[in-house]
Amino acid sequence: MSKNNTHFSSKLGLIAATVGSAVGLGNVWRFPAEAQSGGGAAFLLIYILCVILLGIPCMLAEFALGRAGSTDAIGAFGRVVPTRKRWATVGALSVLTSFLIAIFYLVVTGWTLSYSVASVTGNLYRPESGIEAGNALFRLKMEQYIADGYGAMFFTMAVVVLNWLILRGGVKKGIERLSNILMPLLFLLLLAFCCVSLSLPGASEGISYFFKPDFTKITPTVVLSALGQAFFSLSLGMGILVTYAAYYPPQTHLVSTATTVSSLATLVAIMMGVIIFPAVTTFGLTEHGVAGTTLVFLTLPEVFMRLPLTGLWSSLFFLLLTIAALTSTVSILEVTVRCLQDRFGFSRRGACMAVNAPLLVLSGICSLSFGELANFTIFGMNMFNFLDFLTAELLLPLCGIGVCVFVGWIAPKSLLSNQLTNCGSIRSRVTGACLFIIRYIAPALILLVLISPLL
Ligand code: PHE
Repeated sequence: MSKNNTHFSSKLGLIAATVGSAVGLGNVWRFPAEAQSGGGAAFLLIYILCVILLGIPCMLAEFALGRAGSTDAIGAFGRVVPTRKRWATVGALSVLTSFLIAIFYLVVTGWTLSYSVASVTGNLYRPESGIEAGNALFRLKMEQYIADGYGAMFFTMAVVVLNWLILRGGVKKGIERLSNILMPLLFLLLLAFCCVSLSLPGASEGISYFFKPDFTKITPTVVLSALGQAFFSLSLGMGILVTYAAYYPPQTHLVSTATTVSSLATLVAIMMGVIIFPAVTTFGLTEHGVAGTTLVFLTLPEVFMRLPLTGLWSSLFFLLLTIAALTSTVSILEVTVRCLQDRFGFSRRGACMAVNAPLLVLSGICSLSFGELANFTIFGMNMFNFLDFLTAELLLPLCGIGVCVFVGWIAPKSLLSNQLTNCGSIRSRVTGACLFIIRYIAPALILLVLISPLL
């Protein structure tokens, strides 16, 4: 890889790429459902507090480690504290975690692509012998898009190939160029959908459904789920931010980057709520449930069926989801690609092949989790759900705690202060508070998320 392809070339590019990673299916798909079940605006408030108190400091810890190490997510630990080589295990765990997440995340990205294509061709809405929106057969047809193994497998593999092609271009010509085009497009699409949704007759009802604070719904479980959501949706603990920060130029202001990225990711999550709830209440679909797969892949197509220009809105919406997912998948795959390059001396092309070729098989198999391989279970879960559970409930929190303890206690204090002030050339008033949170608060809170299922 040529030297000038190892840094983001502009401030905008690095923000676009990092926001692209943070804005993914976690914000656009999981957030509205979590917010609604967690008391609307009350959840939002707790979520924002979690982003500020936990998310931004943890993000800064990863940025500091990554830029100081200026290599892959494993090597960064050894570069920062050469005498404590064992800590590289935390890096290795985060690389493994990122790879396992990629396996099932690529499957969902495949669904979004298949829905985009089916919206353009009109297949998603073609009435089959008198099937009408809302009836059971319609839902069955939608579910088939996900459960129909070989269709889903084809799109999953297509997404892997797409990632392969982008990653081969390297940091500047692949990831940055893609983000520079897709992120503005994503915001434009979000804005357009906000306008459409707010102009629906039931908009105000939907908005209050989403924003009305219901503090009675706030329980310790809801607080923990807001914490978990903030952690996942800021791409923490996956080695992504450590890897991306290695591509940040030395003059990048880390505090303002972390604040901008977190604010934009939160803004996208809120915009998704503004899009979804008016649509759902206007068409009386609240009883369909607004959780997970159901919301995006079943309820929303029904909303589009009731709008004029069904195909257009549906195509644009699933394009929006595909963009959000794609900019996240390239970031998570970059973790292993960079690791193979720096740890094992792979060429860029070789590393991309070594990461994507196995994923073609693994994600391909995973895409059959709801169809042909539904009966293949691990601890009673299909492959998709098992990987989701293993990474979200166990590995991500472990990696998160590992990074905090390393940056807070093992690395010299000067690591954080040097990185936040660019070696004293700019002022930072948050270094002390940040270190305090990274040392005490963040590990304790993440530990709570980790052990909460046992309590
Ligand atoms: N913020 C991302 C999301 O919400 C987190 C993520 C990044 C997940 C990359 C997977 C891959 O989807």
